[in-house]
Amino acid sequence: MKNKLIILVAASFIHTIGLAQLQWLGSGKKVDPFHYSQKKEGSFSMMAIASAHPLASSVGAEIMKEGGNAFDAAIAVQLVLAVVYPDAGNLGGGGFLLGRNKSGDIIAIDFRESAPGLATKDMYLDKNGAPQHELSVNGHLSVGIPGTVAGLFKTLPYAKLSFEKLIEPAIELAEKGFAITEIQAKDFNELKPEFLKYNTQPIAFIKNTDWKAGDILVQPELAETLKRIQLYGPKGFYEGKTAELLVAEINRGNGIISLTDLKNYEAKMRVAISSKYRGYTVLGFPPPSSGGIIVSQLLTMVEPYPLKKYGYGTIQSMHLMIEAERRAFADRAKYMGDPDFWKVPQKTLLSNAYLTNRMKDFDPLKASPSKNIQPGEIPESDQTTHISIMDAEGNMVSITTTLNNRYGSKTVVGGAGFFLNDEMDDFSMKPGVPNLYGAVGGAANAIAPGKRMLSSMAPTLILKNGNPFCVLGTPGGTTIPTSVFQMIVDMVDFGMNATDAVNKPKFHHQWLPDEVKIEKGFSVEIEQGLENMGYKLRLVGGIGRSELIKILPDGKFEVAADRRGDDSVAGY
Ligand code: DON
Repeated sequence: MKNKLIILVAASFIHTIGLAQLQWLGSGKKVDPFHYSQKKEGSFSMMAIASAHPLASSVGAEIMKEGGNAFDAAIAVQLVLAVVYPDAGNLGGGGFLLGRNKSGDIIAIDFRESAPGLATKDMYLDKNGAPQHELSVNGHLSVGIPGTVAGLFKTLPYAKLSFEKLIEPAIELAEKGFAITEIQAKDFNELKPEFLKYNTQPIAFIKNTDWKAGDILVQPELAETLKRIQLYGPKGFYEGKTAELLVAEINRGNGIISLTDLKNYEAKMRVAISSKYRGYTVLGFPPPSSGGIIVSQLLTMVEPYPLKKYGYGTIQSMHLMIEAERRAFADRAKYMGDPDFWKVPQKTLLSNAYLTNRMKDFDPLKASPSKNIQPGEIPESDQTTHISIMDAEGNMVSITTTLNNRYGSKTVVGGAGFFLNDEMDDFSMKPGVPNLYGAVGGAANAIAPGKRMLSSMAPTLILKNGNPFCVLGTPGGTTIPTSVFQMIVDMVDFGMNATDAVNKPKFHHQWLPDEVKIEKGFSVEIEQGLENMGYKLRLVGGIGRSELIKILPDGKFEVAADRRGDDSVAGY
């Protein structure tokens, strides 16, 4: 079903700004930042993209028409999201890119934020050892060293066009502005008190009167930052004026990031996790994300069971999947952390023998309370946004990036115009103390200088007989790997198309707290049935904002953007 939302622009704005088209696109065509609409699904033959914002998706398609491939589109779209989707699109955050180029090489780029050099294990505990969540979630001390810009330059060798060109749409959108959506207007109004609290300088997201859909957001300081990156490359961000503005901002709020921290930041190449599920090859992102391991564990744990026969949204299938989720998250808490600082027993965690054993106490008739489930025994030897892109050459890009919480630390770098992350909260500040997403951890994910905090992000690729089949991913904190898992099962076992896999209600269990988060849409009988088995259910507003592209039998791309946000597809 097509769900079109027309963004209405106040007539006065049209009058003052005019109907300017982006210059980089040539005269009078293509992307119009003042009038655009969402497109929730599509079928295309040359390329397809799904992202969190219609303007970003359109730019991705246009970049391909100008001779780019899926990697060019990924770079341009991520930069545009930093402008038009400040909720989570970012320069001041980090993420993971999982790609496959047309020759079949798998590329895993880790541009996760890292802890500043002055970070200490107990930095979010007061002198009595009590957790100070406010400090790890908001403001200047919650910020990890941003990785996004380094990640984009690490992606560049796989692209065809120059970075100077790929960054142009973002610059123009920041400079000329774009019409904000209803969700964004609501966010800006709702968050005004927090924006005021966590900022030391005027920021573009605060104005005297209330924001409304169609208002134009112009970000001149962000445009200048983007131009410095255009001119000087990574040094335009990690050194020079941008770095100085960032450190000055951090210092104004008693943060600890230094110029040296910024200069030393590096994006890293990792080796993707590859596993099989019912004949498909599922590629996932390894630590420092837990996402790839969890998705692979979940699929392996449920593979012996006849899920197709159970069907979507039945007590039998949900019970099985929830119990697998509970067990995978118990492992996450104990064994997963930055592999450069902690030996993650990845091989064991992914082995069939280990996972068969993990499900040995699965009771088909009732829930297993989390207090009875512990992390597996391993012998000695442990506000985010997703972009999915595929092109006809066989390039696939799955990229999830984050500021962590909505608008990150809520702090904008004064004079540089971009939000900083609050990713430090993804570390385990104290064994057993839950983070923002309720995730617990221990030594594996303790804070240390230079260490990357454990993530749940799970940009995923699926191959069929070695050929591209599907690109998928979502934001949603700890619900990310369970959503990805459910979308794979929805397609492979329950035969769903892209739109249904993205939009059908989801559920989530993460070991602790011992409860099932469940979206609206399951019948009362199912909810009652699960409660009778011993589950505590918690109804939640929405799980994830998924973007999925799948190849149809005729070779066309079937693409779907999540109904839960402003997400939109594009392609041709
Ligand atoms: O890396 C992580 O796991 C989290 N920082 C992701 C946060 C997130 O997905 C928020 N979005 N809804």
